[in-house]
Amino acid sequence: MRLLHRAPGSTSVFTLEEMEALLLLALSILTGAGCQDWGVTLPAGPLAGWSGSCVTIPCSYTYPEGQLVRAVTWSRDKERIVRLTATAGQGYDRAKRAQFLGDLQHNCTLRLSPLALGDGGAYSFEFQTQSQSWKSPRAVCLTVSEHPCRVQHSMSRTAGVLSGSTDCSISERCASSGLYWYDKAGTQISQETGKSKSRLSMRIIWQHRGAVLECRVRGYRNRCLPKGSQPPATGRPHPLKVLVDTDGPGPIREGDSFTLRCVGDSGSLDQVYFWIHNYEDLPGSSSLQIEGAALSHGGNYTCMKWVSDIGRAYLAISPTTYVAILAPPVVHVVATPGPHRSTGEPLSLTCRLDTSAYGGLGFSWYKDGERLGWAQAELAFPGVQVADGGEYQCEVHNTLGKSTSLPLTITVVYGSDWYQLSPGPMAGFGAGVLLLFFLSNLGVYCLARRIRQRKELGGSLQGGSREDPSAPQRDSLYEEIPCAGEIPCPSDDDGDYYNSPKDYCN
Ligand SMILES: *[C@@H]1O[C@H](CO)[C@@H](O)[C@H](O)[C@H]1NC(C)=O
Ligand SMILES: *[C@@H]1O[C@H](CO)[C@@H](O)[C@H](O)[C@H]1NC(C)=O
Repeated sequence: MRLLHRAPGSTSVFTLEEMEALLLLALSILTGAGCQDWGVTLPAGPLAGWSGSCVTIPCSYTYPEGQLVRAVTWSRDKERIVRLTATAGQGYDRAKRAQFLGDLQHNCTLRLSPLALGDGGAYSFEFQTQSQSWKSPRAVCLTVSEHPCRVQHSMSRTAGVLSGSTDCSISERCASSGLYWYDKAGTQISQETGKSKSRLSMRIIWQHRGAVLECRVRGYRNRCLPKGSQPPATGRPHPLKVLVDTDGPGPIREGDSFTLRCVGDSGSLDQVYFWIHNYEDLPGSSSLQIEGAALSHGGNYTCMKWVSDIGRAYLAISPTTYVAILAPPVVHVVATPGPHRSTGEPLSLTCRLDTSAYGGLGFSWYKDGERLGWAQAELAFPGVQVADGGEYQCEVHNTLGKSTSLPLTITVVYGSDWYQLSPGPMAGFGAGVLLLFFLSNLGVYCLARRIRQRKELGGSLQGGSREDPSAPQRDSLYEEIPCAGEIPCPSDDDGDYYNSPKDYCN
């Protein structure tokens, strides 16, 4: 252009012949430059696109005649994204989003579909011939912004999983005739819907556990797809389920660690997970790791996954999985009919658990810390003795471990009407019992002595037939009991001797 412009402006300087020669020269240079020079023609201005849409970068390239193109390469910023060689074809995976539409002659058109937010940058083209490599001196800039028809989600939740709702929404700039929710069979779910927002209550979502719901933008069409072809079905997530990974076999016990995984494939990376534990929201990713489980970690777990796309989004809801955490059982000893007994009464001690969650249990019994040789849940005494009193504990054990009860104190007393007394008066009564024992023995001794005195006196008043054969034995026994000499024995005349020995011998 510059030469052509200068040539007419120079008519007053050059002769006509000179000008003809100059024009011929200029033309030859121009045609030579157009067909044979090294060059790449890219769009002049920057390009812009929405994520999920597609963009084509028109491009052509030239090189001197006689050169043979061996390889072409497109790069974004410094990174090579597409390479085509004469020998190996396109050096990229066809599933990838960049596609070289050109050839090894003069066309270097590039298509990006679908665009992702990360695709923005400076795109440049270079090619290699057998003798040299040429890179376009300038690059074309591409900016990618979020598509207005990308379906976003938001949750408006209050306490309790069955209250609140989930919204799917699109930008006001998306050309659509509304957003609608569909169940797994493709039936529209009744909902609160507007032009750019559709609200589904948690109560309805909860009814669709195990399913994948879809929120679809009515009127959206993917213009990147060739006419008549269907959008790829890869975006729809598979149904979810919650898997529980434990360190070892068997149930999860208090203090163990476990991992909950929300499992269900989907091709999309744009996904967000939610967990619901016993009607409470839990933040989380695709898995929840629980270290040192407490009983409160047990219960019902449900996971949800939101997969966002352009023109549609999915909400997958897992069925609920129950996680049981086994606590060591609380064990206690139960005394039937009660812990305070009189000698000779029956007593039964039973080892009770507060749960029926354990099987394969063995029992051990301890009295005053000493292990007894008894391995049943019940320890029975047909007639309890004073020596049976003490502190009893039972222990249950199985392969998971063992639990021991607190001690239960069993008291056994003589008679039947003292068992409700406290230890102080009980001690006083003990002394009284001893004293009575002593005095009654003294009484028996004195009676025996009186009988013997009567025998010695020859007064066989009651006849030999009435004499007990054990009487002499008894006499000798009681004679050996030292009777304090100063204690007077009651006189023979006193008939009340047996009723109140205390009065006579004290
Ligand atoms: C380059 O190739 C593309 C795709 O085949 C085509 O649409 C375009 O028109 C071609 N460009 C030129 C300049 O021939
Ligand atoms: C877990 O779910 C079951 C069945 O829906 C229910 O009976 C139970 O009460 C739930 N447990 C908790 C802790 O929410």
